[in-house]
Parts: sequence; structure tokens; C-alpha cells
Amino acid sequence: MNSDPVIRIERLYKEYVTEAGTVPVLKDVSVSVMPGEFVAIMGPSGSGKSTFMNILGCLDVATSGNYFLNGRDVNAQSRDELALLRNQVIGFVFQGFNLLPRASLEDNVALPLIYRGTPTATRLARASEMLEKVGLGQYRRSRPNQISGGQQQRVAIARALVNHPKLLLADEPTGNLDTHTSQEIMALFTELNQRDGITIVLITHESDIATYAQRLVRLSDGRIVYDGAIEHAAPHHLEATS
Ligand SMILES: Nc1ncnc2c1ncn2[C@@H]1O[C@H](COP(=O)(O)OP(=O)(O)OP(=O)(O)O)[C@@H](O)[C@H]1O
Ligand SMILES: [Mg+2]
Repeated sequence: MNSDPVIRIERLYKEYVTEAGTVPVLKDVSVSVMPGEFVAIMGPSGSGKSTFMNILGCLDVATSGNYFLNGRDVNAQSRDELALLRNQVIGFVFQGFNLLPRASLEDNVALPLIYRGTPTATRLARASEMLEKVGLGQYRRSRPNQISGGQQQRVAIARALVNHPKLLLADEPTGNLDTHTSQEIMALFTELNQRDGITIVLITHESDIATYAQRLVRLSDGRIVYDGAIEHAAPHHLEATS
């Protein structure tokens, strides 16, 4: 396979400047993710997972280091170019589903297309198609408060897919869901990865969720302490703490 990485990060550092001083959060992080990989990110609370994810998603910038997204140097893009690159390449799924409560599911899913200037009829057709894909076609006219938490997360996944992203980034997507519903959501992620070839990077606190991935990246105090096949990870690498 001679394809280029979707993500290539080299010697990345991130520090926050606060009133109390400079806080180093990510320290010398290097990682590449190839097309079609499914990567779980684990690590104790405060180890830098969300900070890392926000940088991967171009929602925040590193203090130093290189980041190539789909072969493009993120640091060399203008603000507008970066917004476009993000919009074309990445879909986001968060722990809180972040749906608009007053809008129909169809309108929620179609939202990212508004920023691209897609005509209304096309937007709604694409939204319906994505809702079908996550098994919620019959609920297109419903509102978020009329469906369950697991269904709301499916809608958020449909919204993330509507631009046909190459890369899906998910920060604790099952954090607000019960075990059974979490398994359903993970089955959906697995299908998107295996059937559609979408690259997935997912943060989780739970080893049961991480084992849906093929690869584990473990952060501890802002550094990568394990990066490899999930079945070869030592048991403590799959713990929420330690
Ligand atoms: N905007 C900010 N300003 C200053 N410090 C921050 C900021 N955001 C995060 N931090 C600090 O960076 C560190 C890593 O935070 P981050 O949210 O990335 O951790 P996490 O691994 O996602 O934790 P959790 O599992 O609790 O979600 C923490 O010590 C946090 O206090
Ligand atoms: Mg976090």
C-alpha cells in the first residue's frame, strides 16, 4: 500500500498560557494515521486527549511541531483554506450530541452543507440519505427531544458524515450512553470503518469501547506511552487511570 497518511504529526508540543504561568500539555507527540485505520486514544483525565483531538480537528493550533492533514501542511494554510480543508476532510462527533433542539433531524444533519452553499433540495436529499444510513430514515421530521440518546448520537454521526469525510474524529462519543446503546454506536463506527473505509480516531475512557479499534494510542501526562496493536497492549494501557 503506497497511500499517504491521513494524519502526520511530528514533534508536536502544546502549551497553554494561563495567569499562573505556562502549562505544557502535549510534549513531543509524533503519530501517523493511515487511510482506513481505526485508532482509539486513551489516557487518564487531564493527559491531553481532548487537546490533541482539537488540534487534529484544526479547532486549536499547536505551539510547535508539524501537522499534515491529508498531505496538506496545516500550519501553511490561511484561515479560509483551513476551514475548507477541515470541512472537506473531517467529520466530528462529540460526547454531548450538540444538536439544535428546535430543528428537525433532517435540518440538523443538513447543517454542515449550509456552510458550503449546497442548494436546499440537495441538502435535504443528502441528509435523508445519511439518516437512512444510520437507521433513522423514518424520523427525519422529528426533533431531537423526541428520540433517545442513542438515536441522537446516530443523528450526530449522520451530520458528521454528510460531507463524506475521509476522517471521523470522536471525543468520547459513548460517554453519555448506557452499555447497550454504546455497543450499537460502536457497531455503527465499525461498519463505517470496514464497509466505507472511513478513518476513525476516537477518544474513550472505556477499554470495552477501545477494543472496537485496531490500534491504541495511550497518552500519559501529554506524552505517547503506547502506540500499537490493541491486542498487544498491556492491560494497564487499557485502563482509564494509572
Ligand atoms: N484552555 C486551556 N487553558 C489552560 N489549560 C488547559 C486548557 N485546556 C486544557 N487545559 C489543561 O490541559 C490538560 C489536558 O486537558 P485535556 O482536556 O486535553 O485532557 P483530557 O485528557 O481530555 O481529560 P478528560 O479525560 O478529563 O477529558 C489539563 O491539565 C487541562 O487543565
Ligand atoms: Mg477530554
